[in-house]
Amino acid sequence: MTWTPDSWRLKPIRQQPDYPDPDALREVEKELASSPPLVFAGEARRLRGQLGAVARGEAFLLQGGDCAESFAEFHVDTIRDTFKLMLQMAVVLTYAASMPVVKVGRMAGQFAKPRSSNLEVQDGVSLPSYRGDNINGIAFDADARTPDPKRLVKAYYQSALTLNLLRAFAQGGMANLEEVHRWNLEFIKDSPQSERYEILAREIDAAVAFMRAVGITPESVRELRETDFYTSHEALLPGYEEAFIRVDSMSGDHYATSAHMLWIGDRTRQLDGAHVELLRGVENPIGLKCGPSLEPDDLIRLIAVLDPQNDPGRLTLITRHGADDVDRYLPPLIAAVEREGLDVVWSCDPMHGNTIVSSNGYKTRPFERVVAEVRRFFAIHRSMGTHPGGVHIELTGQNVTECTGGATRIGEENLADRYHTHCDPRLNASQSLELAFLIADELKVGAALGA
Ligand code: PEP
Ligand code: CO
Repeated sequence: MTWTPDSWRLKPIRQQPDYPDPDALREVEKELASSPPLVFAGEARRLRGQLGAVARGEAFLLQGGDCAESFAEFHVDTIRDTFKLMLQMAVVLTYAASMPVVKVGRMAGQFAKPRSSNLEVQDGVSLPSYRGDNINGIAFDADARTPDPKRLVKAYYQSALTLNLLRAFAQGGMANLEEVHRWNLEFIKDSPQSERYEILAREIDAAVAFMRAVGITPESVRELRETDFYTSHEALLPGYEEAFIRVDSMSGDHYATSAHMLWIGDRTRQLDGAHVELLRGVENPIGLKCGPSLEPDDLIRLIAVLDPQNDPGRLTLITRHGADDVDRYLPPLIAAVEREGLDVVWSCDPMHGNTIVSSNGYKTRPFERVVAEVRRFFAIHRSMGTHPGGVHIELTGQNVTECTGGATRIGEENLADRYHTHCDPRLNASQSLELAFLIADELKVGAALGA
């Protein structure tokens, strides 16, 4: 019953790597436990407060980034481009919703991946599955696939460098509203569907010009040139997370300091399991992935453990049912939460329920199915009187070809061109912006209804 940073160790646990040398792992965990935190409790509290506004229907959450960060793709340009993209999306959403948009990256720590199988077989050879760059290597050879605890240290340093850039971008001029809007105009100019987005872009243009005319400019108002940008990842490795749980000197509470927000994946959300035990004791805002196998009653039991005070902003339910199944699974979850009078953030992950294998063997996601799930998410919440609070997207600012469809019509035959992901297929920059404009249409309906 009593929670401690290591009480998860007594619980059944899934999805863990098989380290050949457990002593080496303990050494690394000790080293990390004496390393500086990546984020601070006060920042996590601030995010929790902002997510409270989302839970009350007064703000919108945009969470996005790589499925899996990698050592190979680590570069200032990729981080800058994903940051820029999230800001561009946020401007469109803020205007359409007439609400603040809370921006949370799947960045600076999103390495570890749950896998459907412990082993991967190729040409009769069977090796441990790739579990993310902080665990083992993606190359299909025995050396690379052996879990190596030193990778946790490398991932920690890469997270620190990534965060350093994000903090600089957020405070150092890259978040200038007029600049971000100009990038959006460039996107629209080049888009084959430009006329669809032009009306909204022109409205934003007029709003920006009006503000400038009355003296509200990025030069005069800090909020127009700086922003809050938070980090998040799936807390798949409790040993790593435990090393970064620290007692906040202000409140005396425990906080995870590896990221502002952590979430529990769809495969590791067992009520009596290690991952739920780990996160119930930290005061950060936390997320819970809700897939088709989650029964409404089990969701209510999980909420009782993860958010016993029913504090708006503590818990974000990230639903991921797939375009075909969202109508079947989402309404019963909402009904149960409403019946119990619980205050949660509802966020839509339209990625993980819409993954297919293309005829030429690529794991992909058709853009129109991603859009379809988001649209159903909004329609269902609107019909049930709850707030469609946010979206959770796997995306990158790079011009990759991993998901089919979108205005530039990526076909299955194009997937091989720039398929770079280390795990699931991501929306590229143009698909992501298109999605933001489509979500904006939904949000405008909500703003008009006052919902
Ligand atoms: C993910 O977010 O990359 C993921 C594995 O999601 P889920 O736990 O919902 O399958
Ligand atoms: Co993924």
